[in-house]
This record gives sequence, C-alpha cells and structure tokens, in this order.
Amino acid sequence: MAADSLFRPFTHKSLTLKNRIVMAPMTRSFSPSGVPTSDVAAYYRRRAEGDVGLILSEGTVVNRPSAKNDPNVPNFHGEQALTGWKRVIDEVHAAGGKMGPQLWHVGSARNPMANWVAPPPVDAPSGLSSPGKRFTEPMTDEAIADTIAAFGKAAGEAKRLGFDVVEIHGAHGYLVDQFFWAGTNERTDAFGGATLAERSRFAAEVVKSIRAAVGKDMVVILRLSQWKQQDFTFKLAKTPEEMESWLTPLVEAGTDILHCSQRRFWEPEFEGSELNFAGWAKKLTGKPTITVGSVGLSGEFTAAFRGESSKPASLDNLLRRLEREEFDLVAVGRALLADPQWVRKVREDRHDELQDFHKEALARLA
Ligand SMILES: Cc1cc2nc3c(=O)[nH]c(=O)nc-3n(C[C@H](O)[C@H](O)[C@H](O)COP(=O)(O)O)c2cc1C
Repeated sequence: MAADSLFRPFTHKSLTLKNRIVMAPMTRSFSPSGVPTSDVAAYYRRRAEGDVGLILSEGTVVNRPSAKNDPNVPNFHGEQALTGWKRVIDEVHAAGGKMGPQLWHVGSARNPMANWVAPPPVDAPSGLSSPGKRFTEPMTDEAIADTIAAFGKAAGEAKRLGFDVVEIHGAHGYLVDQFFWAGTNERTDAFGGATLAERSRFAAEVVKSIRAAVGKDMVVILRLSQWKQQDFTFKLAKTPEEMESWLTPLVEAGTDILHCSQRRFWEPEFEGSELNFAGWAKKLTGKPTITVGSVGLSGEFTAAFRGESSKPASLDNLLRRLEREEFDLVAVGRALLADPQWVRKVREDRHDELQDFHKEALARLA
C-alpha cells in the first residue's frame, strides 16, 4: 500500500509539520549529571536530517528532587542542562526539523537497572509505587503545588529556548499517571476521588500551568496510556463513557493533542469496534491524536528490553487507519532509534533496506 497518507503535512495552531511521523519519546540515559551532550544533539539532528516530522525528546525531568530515576536522564532545568537543550533545538531547526521536550517526573517508579536512588522526598500521590505497595509518604499539598509549578516553569523554558511543542509524560505508571490510577491514588482531597474525572485533577492542573507559561498558540501534547509498567493489562477507562470523563477535563484544561500510548497500535480499545485508543480519543474529544506501538516492527517494545529482536512489518493496517483519519499522527519508537533514515526508506519504498531491531541498539546513540 502506498504510504502517501504518512507524507501529508499537518497543521495545528502554530505548528506545521511536513509529514505525519513523530519520533516517540525514548529515554536514552546519555546525559551525564542531567546535561545533554553534543552527541545527544547530533542524535536528534540526524532524525531531523532524516525527515522525521516531529521529534519528541526522551523524557527530561522537571525540577523536583526525585523527578528522575537515573542520573544520566537529562534535566529540563538548570543552566547547564538548558544550554545543552538549546544546542539540541538549534541543530534540529538547522536541519529543518521540529521538536518538543517530553516533560517527565517518574513519581515513585524507580529504575532497578540504574542502581541509583534519588534524594528524598519521593513524590507519589499516596506514597504507593503500585497497588498495595507502600514506598513513601503521600505528597504534601506543598509538594503538589511545587510540582505543578515545576512543569509550568519547564514548559516556559522550552518556549524560551525555541522548541516547537511541549509534551507532558502522563503515561506508563509515572507520577501523572499515578494520580489517574485508583491503585496508586487513595487521596481523599481534591486530587483524589472515586472517579477518573476526579483523579484527572492533578494532570489538568499541570496542563493549566503549562498553558499559562507557553501562551495559547504553542501546541501542548499530553501522553496517556491505559497500561501501566506495573500492570500491562490494566485499563483506566473500561468504557467509552469513562474515557470521555477522563479526557474531557484534560482537553478543557488546554491540551491540544492527545498522544495515546499502546504497545500494539492495532489492538481495539473496547469491544465492538476496531478503533484503537487514539481512534477513540479523537472521536470522543474532537482533538487531533497520535497513535504509537509497534509501527513497522513485528514485536512490542517491552520485550525488546528483555532481549527479543523484531523484524520489519507491514504498514498496511496503519495506513488504512490513517487514511480513514482515525488519528492524525503516528509515533515511531524503536525503528527510529535504530535507524535515522527510516522515514526516507519508507517514503522511497526501500523496504528491503529496513532493519531488524536488536537490543544492542539501546546501548548507543546511532
Ligand atoms: C529505549 C526506550 C525508551 C523509552 N522511553 C520512554 C520515555 O522516556 N517516555 C515515554 O513516554 N515512552 C518511552 N518509551 C516508549 C516509546 O515512546 C514507545 O511508546 C514505545 O517504544 C512503542 O513504540 P515502538 O513500538 O515504535 O518502539 C521508551 C521506549 C524505548 C524502546
């Protein structure tokens, strides 16, 4: 099937993209003491040179003591780190690309691989790292207010440095998602509650804080997932009605684009319809959405961490959905991590040049 639908321009507010392909945010941990190096800038520049429509950075953390779970994850605060990010965006722009940072706070999700513990206090809505598993004290009101402000501050810096968009990491069981999830949010104040709509309050406040910092024209993307790293099969919203009650306050708060993270994009979200998460999110909110999950590869990404390799796979199912406008943009993770030329190869029909994905690719900035 011709890939034309992937190569139509996209415009929303102040953002215009030359095609529909987004580089998915991928933690690389190549920024010693949180400062992105010239190698990091060159890594992103290569994706811009390779015609990626929109580059989302790896998760980069806001200014809270325990926002990261690995010392080599980049900061999005402090003069040195921001100088590193300025070089990144300048190089991406020089190569004709567009980019935004993915603003991140890991909450109580620690990284067993990093063998490193962040300084306290650890921020988690109810001090839980997964349902029933106490890790620390619940966040104080002051910590919540400071965290919301830290997201806004980071977004303001992104605008000042010249980034084109900002994305909030609200997925995968990290801090923002820990507020959505009843299993990790047992609060009884305004940031908790029995309904998903009530538990969306923290994320909505983060979006508002970011919107206030960047103004009305800069595109704000919110990444969400039903699944959690603590439970791959979990669904926050079990029905379309519940999904609508989750997403509506987030859109009303100022989200422009919903980035709907699935491990396999073709999996239907609810019984009785083929629509995936991005399909439902677009239908329910009317907002543009990004799909993601095993685009162009045979196996999903968490298996890659366990050492499983993947082979190039057909894009036909994806292209049919994009043609039907079920979603607007398509994020690609591992295929672009391994191969900065992936977009060109797809556009020029050079399918025999597409590469397998092996976990060795995670060890270097290709
Ligand atoms: C090495 C690696 C690091 C990742 N880090 C992040 C991250 O920082 N933030 C995030 O939202 N998702 C992260 N993800 C998930 C990806 O953004 C993407 O959703 C996932 O890889 C599925 O896309 P793919 O099948 O095209 O690889 C990561 C994935 C990989 C492979």
